Amino acid sequence: MKQRQLYVETFGCQMNDYDSEIMVCLMEDKNYVQTQNINQADLILLNTCSIREKAEQKVYSYLGRLRGLKEKNPDLLIGITGCVAQQQGKKLLNDLPYLDLVVGTHGIYRLPQLVEEINKKGHQICWTNFDYKLNNATHPGPNQIIVKANLAIMQGCDNFCTYCVVPYVRGREISRPVPDILEEAGGLLANGVKEITLLGQNVNSYGRGLEPKITFTGLIKKIADLPPALSRLRFVTSHPKDLSVELIRAFDEVKPLCEHVHLPVQSGSTRILKAMHRKYTREEYLSKVAELRDVCPDIALTTDVIVGFPGETQADFDQTMDLLDRVNFDGIFSFKYSDRPMTQAMKLRNKIPEEVKSARLTELQALQKNISLKKNQALVGQELEVLVEGPSKRIAGQLTGRTRTNKIVNFACETVSRGSLVNVLIEAASANTLRGTVRHE
Ligand code: 5AD
Ligand code: SF4
Repeated sequence: MKQRQLYVETFGCQMNDYDSEIMVCLMEDKNYVQTQNINQADLILLNTCSIREKAEQKVYSYLGRLRGLKEKNPDLLIGITGCVAQQQGKKLLNDLPYLDLVVGTHGIYRLPQLVEEINKKGHQICWTNFDYKLNNATHPGPNQIIVKANLAIMQGCDNFCTYCVVPYVRGREISRPVPDILEEAGGLLANGVKEITLLGQNVNSYGRGLEPKITFTGLIKKIADLPPALSRLRFVTSHPKDLSVELIRAFDEVKPLCEHVHLPVQSGSTRILKAMHRKYTREEYLSKVAELRDVCPDIALTTDVIVGFPGETQADFDQTMDLLDRVNFDGIFSFKYSDRPMTQAMKLRNKIPEEVKSARLTELQALQKNISLKKNQALVGQELEVLVEGPSKRIAGQLTGRTRTNKIVNFACETVSRGSLVNVLIEAASANTLRGTVRHE
């Protein structure tokens, strides 16, 4: 039977990257092969993100461009999966008649079945039920040698931060059973994977509702003990309110656990944190940072910040700027607040004008750029372990990789290959990347 071509475009976060890998694996079992050329595709899947308004807009503008492809090739199937699919459901099929398939966040395991149904019956299908059981199925695993892999340990979120659509589009928090995770991790290790990133919206609360009882740190230790030894273990995302002393200690105790935490603060103002329903104060956040640095002085810290949350005053924003100054993050992701459907913040009246949000974002990013640059410059002269990911996309003839602290390093070397761990002497630094020379191969 002739192989069909599958083109997947992924928007948004690492969880979506992971879900896209699962969809590719599932469709490969049904005689599809992945293509990088959208014009050759028999099936196009857009795995979408709706976390911010801009992310959702990107999906619609991309979708608009697919209309022409469908006109040229009426046999082409176009599907939309992920958070926008979950959020909009049937409305997408009504608004965009050239779409064939809408599959929500819990439906990806049904994809082969749904595609088959469309091929047989020839009508549009929408599947947006929440079906936790299916989500506990094990990831089929990558069928190619990869250096780094993602591994989802949970789904959904129960925190209901007032600005956030995730609990509505990804569903309630559920932890995958330990044996499933260990089996998947074991498969990755057997495949030669060097680095695993554990994924969840709030990994620190992993284990809630599981029997026998287990904490996130307990899970980390089990994965770190699997043979053959894993070089690097990471996790995203942590919620400051659930970052336990046990987990903080693990940075000292668990060898593969990399010295980096992404700890979204969102705001430096306790008043705004309260309105966001984050359940920690500015002081509590700062003391978690101090505890982390106490156990692991060189730990890299990154964060997410929202500017212009409804009601944010200049004084609130100043507190956020001050927090950045105090913490000295290695890097931040910063966003202008945008209304999201179904959220509580959407209903608030005291919205901040667009130009104020933009001005605050610019100011915040300028401050952080300086901080990141200084932090990176302090690494010049040090020798750091780099996991080689492959040729640099930006600089011809150079290789690229990351330090344990998750910093990108570009370096020239002809003799090392993808997946090796090398020591690189850092010679130059910008706010986003480091440059160096390999010392030991
Ligand atoms: N507006 C702006 N930023 C948001 N984020 C989540 N929801 C919104 C929103 N409505 C940001 C948060 C979160 C990151 C993934 O996206 O900072 O940590
Ligand atoms: Fe959204 Fe808050 Fe859950 Fe993160 S913890 S996914 S910001 S509701």
